[in-house]
Amino acid sequence: MDERDERLAVVVDKPRAEAVIDDLERAGVYDADRSVREYDEGSVSLPVTAVPDAVDYREVVRQVGEPRLRDLADHLRERGWTDDEIDRAPASWAVLGTVVLVDAGDAPRPAELGEALLDLHGAADTVLARGPITGAHREPDVTVLAGEGDTETVHREHGTTYAMDLAEVMFSPGNKAERARMGEQVSEGERVVDMFAGIGYFAVPMARAGAAVTAVERNPASFEFLLENVRRNGVADRVQPYRADCRDVLEQTDPATDVRADRIVMGYYEAHEYLDSALGALEPGGVVHMHEATPEALVPDRPVERLRDAAADRDRSVEILETRRVKGYSEGVAHVVVDARVE
Ligand SMILES: C[S@@+](CC[C@H](N)C(=O)[O-])C[C@H]1O[C@@H](n2cnc3c(N)ncnc32)[C@H](O)[C@@H]1O
Repeated sequence: MDERDERLAVVVDKPRAEAVIDDLERAGVYDADRSVREYDEGSVSLPVTAVPDAVDYREVVRQVGEPRLRDLADHLRERGWTDDEIDRAPASWAVLGTVVLVDAGDAPRPAELGEALLDLHGAADTVLARGPITGAHREPDVTVLAGEGDTETVHREHGTTYAMDLAEVMFSPGNKAERARMGEQVSEGERVVDMFAGIGYFAVPMARAGAAVTAVERNPASFEFLLENVRRNGVADRVQPYRADCRDVLEQTDPATDVRADRIVMGYYEAHEYLDSALGALEPGGVVHMHEATPEALVPDRPVERLRDAAADRDRSVEILETRRVKGYSEGVAHVVVDARVE
């Protein structure tokens, strides 16, 4: 019998489940083919392919008895859903700490969908259906589908911890790779401005990587979580937060608080409207990461042209380093980010 057949699992307290899964994945021993199971009240067993060395867990157990139902379709079928109904269920969702966030689409009986997702994710206590994110403050609209209805959660990814209230602030699961990439871009001591910091999506991983980050956010609810996340991740000495309009921070002329940057992150779909403020603060040779929601037919020309035009207005030249698709934004529209060096 090899280790896989032994159905090994490690037991951890529920609030730590997501963080430990993160650690197990990095150690290469998380068994994604099996499910997280409720172990006793307050703890869960996480499936592993081998006993992990450097991961903190309470005990190692064998998952015995009936194998847990494997996927959402199994759980829905158990609730009497037909194959046609199951086809209308969502194919993906995000687990953010203790919350499952799902776009329920036109799934029938959303409450049952929520219950099934709770069964599938033993460490979660709430399922939220997400509606549109609207307005300049990017405010979410969520509905409780199942569980306790606690919209506050603490999510960990790539070693960064994000506290948030999903009823108040947006969190885009599809930006996960971009959040990690921003942390990988910076070098120690680099001066970064995150003009649209939100709860610290990019600012915190960049500060964790050693950058000195000026983080600007004008939505009061997001700003409170930005402060909390800076503290939780132990980077208060490397982040200067401002609750303000980023233009006011970058365009103020007081030499005592003048902001200069080696790198500027513009994580907002309307970022191009702020390019002049950004370029005014960017040192020669500095890098800008400009996000945009771009119709497919205009990728990558429109954001690239917008960058070139803004630089030309300041008699500066642009070297395009990379254009990336972050995710789909809507039908026929892509979320793209352009990395450019500005001389
Ligand atoms: C799209 S969200 C951040 C998304 C995040 N970068 C991500 O990838 O998930 C943009 C944020 O910018 C903030 N914001 C919009 N306009 C702003 C401005 N002029 N100054 C400062 N913050 C602004 C909004 O409140 C919101 O929190």
